[in-house]
Amino acid sequence: MATVAEATDAVFDEACARLRGGGLVAFPTETVYGLGADTFSSRGLEAVYALKGRPADNPLIAHVSGTLVARNITIGWDERCDRLAERFWPGPLTIVLDRAANVPPEAAGGRDSLAVRAPRHPLARRLLEAFGGAISAPSANRSGHVSPTSASHVAADFPEADLLILQGGPCTVGIESTVLDMREKTPRLLRPGSVTVSEIEASIGPIDARGVASQSDSPGTTAAHYAPETPAELVEPEQLAAHLDNLEERAAVLCFDVQAVRAPHHGIEMPQGAGDYGAHLYEALRRADAVGVDRIVIEMPPQTNQMWDAVLDRLARACTGA
Ligand code: TXA
Ligand code: MG
Repeated sequence: MATVAEATDAVFDEACARLRGGGLVAFPTETVYGLGADTFSSRGLEAVYALKGRPADNPLIAHVSGTLVARNITIGWDERCDRLAERFWPGPLTIVLDRAANVPPEAAGGRDSLAVRAPRHPLARRLLEAFGGAISAPSANRSGHVSPTSASHVAADFPEADLLILQGGPCTVGIESTVLDMREKTPRLLRPGSVTVSEIEASIGPIDARGVASQSDSPGTTAAHYAPETPAELVEPEQLAAHLDNLEERAAVLCFDVQAVRAPHHGIEMPQGAGDYGAHLYEALRRADAVGVDRIVIEMPPQTNQMWDAVLDRLARACTGA
């Protein structure tokens, strides 16, 4: 049975013991909850892939307490990485470098690269400090499902698993980290997140942010990830009312004004700002799934600044298959 536990000293001891024994611990980060295993335990890594139902070639992010551990498990950490870490760590930026020879290939889906990130959530930091090594963790959801932004989301995805889930409250960022490939001369954005392209460029100069949606270099960012179970679609604000009136199915509607949503549809009000919207998006999609409707309709948010890029990326993915 999956157990959600308040983070006491005894629970941290148990979490570390489980990781050392090749077991799994779900823990909160500021972005989403992670499903963690010891980066150096092939058994633990295998258990992560098996529990999630994750394709074996989809690499994992190794979570670290800081640059010291990051440098030990990668090759190619340079002065630009220093600047990124100084500016964005601990925080939602993941850096891809070459994998050090001592790190098992399973930690990176068999690739010769490795993604590293120092999360900001106090419980994640405490766990990493207590454990002393690196913790490989994908988002703690069934493969292909919406990422978990609360401990109860994790428990809902893995009710039967022998899994300790650290209770860390709702995630404040709510959207997965920005992933940046630093192996090339011009760094390449693999996944947009709340650390924006202009923030990164202000720190290390121009990066290649083209083709994020189409590339296959980051297997976990192919379309159809991050999707709710109910078919979802994006609708422009000015078409929303007419669209709902003409819909023959009952819909859950993620929108900015629930007053405008009439029965039989079910309105879910979304925050106006990009940061708050991101923090609530996955919870809202899970809630929309739970309403038991035939369709999810999402009012297209404004695209006023780069802060919305990551949200719009995830919305587009949520709507593939609709
Ligand atoms: O915010 C986050 O990044 C969360 C928290 C738990 O840290 N983690 C997360 O992990 O979203 P996951 O596995 O759901 O997504 C990791 C993404 C995937 O798209 C994966 O393909 C990509 O990062 N990735 C990981 N290692 C990579 C590598 N070596 N090369 C290219 N892409 C990589
Ligand atoms: Mg994921």
